[in-house]
Amino acid sequence: MKGVILAGGSGTRLSPLTRITNKHLLPLYDRPMVTYAVEALVRAGIRDVMLVTGGTHAGEFFRLLGNGQEWGVDRLFYAYQEKAGGIAEALGLAERFVDRDKCCVLLADNVYQRSLAPVAKRFAAQERGARIVLSRVAALKHLRHLGVAERDRGGRVVKIVEKPAQPKSRFAVTGVYFYDAQVWDVLPTLKPSGRGELEITDVNNWYVKRGQMEADVIDGFWGDAGESIEAYYAVNDFVRRHKVNAR
Ligand code: DAU
Repeated sequence: MKGVILAGGSGTRLSPLTRITNKHLLPLYDRPMVTYAVEALVRAGIRDVMLVTGGTHAGEFFRLLGNGQEWGVDRLFYAYQEKAGGIAEALGLAERFVDRDKCCVLLADNVYQRSLAPVAKRFAAQERGARIVLSRVAALKHLRHLGVAERDRGGRVVKIVEKPAQPKSRFAVTGVYFYDAQVWDVLPTLKPSGRGELEITDVNNWYVKRGQMEADVIDGFWGDAGESIEAYYAVNDFVRRHKVNAR
């Protein structure tokens, strides 16, 4: 399975910090944010990785990660996203790298306390389709900034709504997505959303509609350090005190 780390975007919610660097190079405790995503993939056994980034500080990722080996990556590729056209647009840049393989896509601002290895293992055994990771979030205010998964009584995801005004469940869709090769046929069919981006939620709903979306509910802490300056500090506090990407 190949890994794709998405570290583009404009990071406006952390402005003015992100005027002078890329969001994913900001520190989380003692190292840059993106290194947690690299570690998450490596610990899940995924060592063929492409990093997609953009903006004016792309070169700094080379300085930090180099050819990836110091960080446990076998082969590290880079792609450059010209404009922040959305998560699904950024993923499209990895098509030739992933080819017909399965892939694990990770947003570089997401931090997980628990290892993603068990989820990756389940997806490796999954015949086809996609897999997402949900996290229980109590605060409705928080859910309004996230993708929210509605589930039936058996726990199957029936719909995902991006940033709902009235969240219908407490299950947030976190920033790790597993796809089979059908994803490359879905991406060209997407239309930009109200915020002018190609949305990963539209990709996920394509799989949901066809009964091909599996979901795991993850235990332990999960944080999106790019959501707001408060979230950034909450994730910082967590990683300072606890191990992350841990078994
Ligand atoms: O963190 C989880 C959430 O991430 C999910 O619950 C949402 O369903 C999903 O849409 C996403 O929402 P955000 O509003 O947090 O996405 P954001 O625009 O912050 O982008 C997340 C990461 O994706 C960002 O850290 C880098 C990458 N990205 C984003 C854009 C817009 C790119 O590489 N290129 C882009 O053009």
